[in-house]
This record gives sequence, structure tokens and C-alpha cells, in this order.
Amino acid sequence: MTATTTAVDADRALKTKHRAMWASGDYPSLATDLISTLGPVLVQACAVRSGDRVLDVAAGAGNAAIPAALAGAEVVASDLTPELFDAGRQQAASWGVELDWVEGDAEALPFVDGDFDTVLSCVGVMFAPHHQASADELVRVCRPSGTIGLLSWTPEGFIGQMFATMKPYAPPPPPSAQPPPLWGDETHVRELFRDRVTDVVARKQTVRIDRFAAPADLRDYFKERYGPTISVYKAIAGDPEKVAQLDRDLVALVERFQHGTDTVVLDWEYLLLTCRRLGPANC
Ligand SMILES: C[S@@+](CC[C@H](N)C(=O)[O-])C[C@H]1O[C@@H](n2cnc3c(N)ncnc32)[C@H](O)[C@@H]1O
Repeated sequence: MTATTTAVDADRALKTKHRAMWASGDYPSLATDLISTLGPVLVQACAVRSGDRVLDVAAGAGNAAIPAALAGAEVVASDLTPELFDAGRQQAASWGVELDWVEGDAEALPFVDGDFDTVLSCVGVMFAPHHQASADELVRVCRPSGTIGLLSWTPEGFIGQMFATMKPYAPPPPPSAQPPPLWGDETHVRELFRDRVTDVVARKQTVRIDRFAAPADLRDYFKERYGPTISVYKAIAGDPEKVAQLDRDLVALVERFQHGTDTVVLDWEYLLLTCRRLGPANC
């Protein structure tokens, strides 16, 4: 077996694992319950207009894709995990819009060069492990002068810190895999796109989370529905002490981020970044 075959096989195995992780739990309900405002925030930041051809990368159940379709765009929702599409189709139908749902890896998108006016991703592409490969694909499928828009959890925000908290309990990722919250660092994203984009606008914003009565409720909600949390607990299931310690660490994390001591109100930070692909029209 050659080194290339081994690398291809290893990547296929990693993506299969990721797909199973995101298909576990109930990600679509979490997106609806907690972050349904973020899709419209991203669509608005990208100034999506009626008739635009839009690609939502790592679309999940269409948190950004559906608002883009509601704005009148022709939308393709693409994701590694087609198990999430049924929930997306149901939601789209309830809003009275139609989208194309296409299985695809953000690192090898199944679309031709320059196919879309807008390429966006809401806390999505950040979870593909090889950042440069994904960034190259976002640029490739966006037409010259088209818009690329990304909404990503920051490393220092709540979800970034949740990943940092879970890391010591998780099996080590392959050496080539990069941490998702790096996409929440503007410098990192600029380095990925380099001189292929212009008009970069980046700002940090927050989404308020106030539906939980106690820190443990938020933790347990994630244990039940969020693939990455489910997968870490699965890895330590045979070690009750570790499970108890991670339970405590996640409660401590919520307490660190909550406002005041009586209520569980948190503001989760994300980076909202838009830019335009450089091309003949704006060279
Ligand atoms: C946190 S969810 C975000 C989904 C959706 N964009 C939203 O706002 O709710 C992350 C998504 O990234 C997808 N994903 C992970 N790795 C991927 C990859 N390599 N290529 C495409 N999608 C991927 C997962 O299947 C999952 O749907």
C-alpha cells in the first residue's frame, strides 16, 4: 500500500467518524432551540438577494440555507452528514421554500469552479479538520466578486471553551486535524484566504442563551443532543471517575460564563466575517 492510499483511507475513516458523530443525538433540535437567529444574521451580513445562487457549506438542517431561500435565493445546502437533511427538508417545507440538499465534504466540494454568487457557512465549515483545504474550496466555488460569509465560534467564547474543556477527555485527533475554533480567529481566516479575497469585514458578536434553569441542565442538554459532547462521553464511558469529573468541569464552565449567580444567562461569542472573492471584475 502506498503512502497516498494510506492517507486517503485515513481521511475517509476520519470523515466517516465525523459523520456518525454529527448524526448522533439531535443536532437539528439544538440548532432550532439555541441558535436559530444565527442563520438570518449570516444571510443578512452576506446581503443575499432574490435570485442569487447560494451555497451553504456544512449546512446541517439548513439554519442559514433556509433563511437564504426565504430571501428569494436559489440555495444548495451541502453537508457531510445527510442524516440531517430530513429535518432540514421538513423545516423548509414548513416555511414554504425548496432547496437542493447535497451530500458533500467541505474539503472536496462537489461543485464546479465559480458556481455560486455567495458561499456561506454558519458554525459549519469550522468543523472540517483541514482548514486550508476547506478555505481553498470556499474560494474555488465562489464566482469572482462573489461573497464568502462565515460565522464561527471564537476560541475564547463559550463553545470554544467547551471544546477546550472536553479535549483532555477525548481521544487525540489525528496530527493533521486542526481545532475548529481557530476559524473564530480573524488572523487565522485571513491567512487561509490570503490575497484571494478583498473587502474583509470581521466583527465579534454574541448570541444570548437563556433557556436553562441550572448549569447542569445546559450540560445535560448537550450530553443528550450534541454529537461532539456525546462522542467524548462515549470515549470515557468505562471510567466513572472521568465521567464525574467531566460533568463537574462542564458545570464549572457554565458557571464561569453565566451572568450573575441566580440565573443561567450566557452570551456565546462568535466571529462574523464576510469578504469578496477577488476576480476579473475587481482586480
Ligand atoms: C454545528 S453543525 C452546524 C450546522 C448548521 N450550519 C447550523 O448552523 O446549524 C456542524 C456541521 O458541520 C458538518 N460537517 C462536519 N464536518 C464536515 C465536513 N468535512 N464537510 C462538510 N460538513 C461537515 C456537520 O455534519 C454538521 O452538520
